[in-house]
Amino acid sequence: MRGVSFWFVATGSVFVTLGMLGGIAMSISGDHTLAPAHAHLNLVGWVTMALFGLYYHLVPAAAATTMARAHFAIASAGVIIMVPGIMLAITENGEALAAIGSLLSLASMLIFVLTVLRNRA
Ligand code: HEM
Repeated sequence: MRGVSFWFVATGSVFVTLGMLGGIAMSISGDHTLAPAHAHLNLVGWVTMALFGLYYHLVPAAAATTMARAHFAIASAGVIIMVPGIMLAITENGEALAAIGSLLSLASMLIFVLTVLRNRA
């Protein structure tokens, strides 16, 4: 695996490692307050990113574009901004970061929709 596929899967696996550490910390402490941040880190940061990576691996023509590199940057930024944003929102410290991160994640998914439609065999 190489290029944008590699980066999606590699970055996703770092996200899920952090998500698992957060899950273990929640279990040990018995404080599950941040469970939604954990869930988003694992599902948007790992499951979604890994699916993007596998798609680009299966469709090399889609991977070899500037749009694919932009997709990776926007998807990663979405997770990196949204997850701390959810933590801030849950602890009632503001929702702006969660809003920005979620819009980036939405933009990433819209790029993926366009990519899939453009690369119909
Ligand atoms: C070491 C691995 C993991 C540990 C120790 C762990 C631990 C936890 C804990 C303690 C909770 C809170 C449960 C509650 O309050 O009812 C939770 C919730 C959750 N976890 Fe994990 N988790 C792990 C991995 C994962 C992975 C890999 C995923 C998804 C791919 C995931 C998805 C979720 C979801 C969707 C929730 C529900 C969140 C919510 O109710 O808001 N977890 N997890």
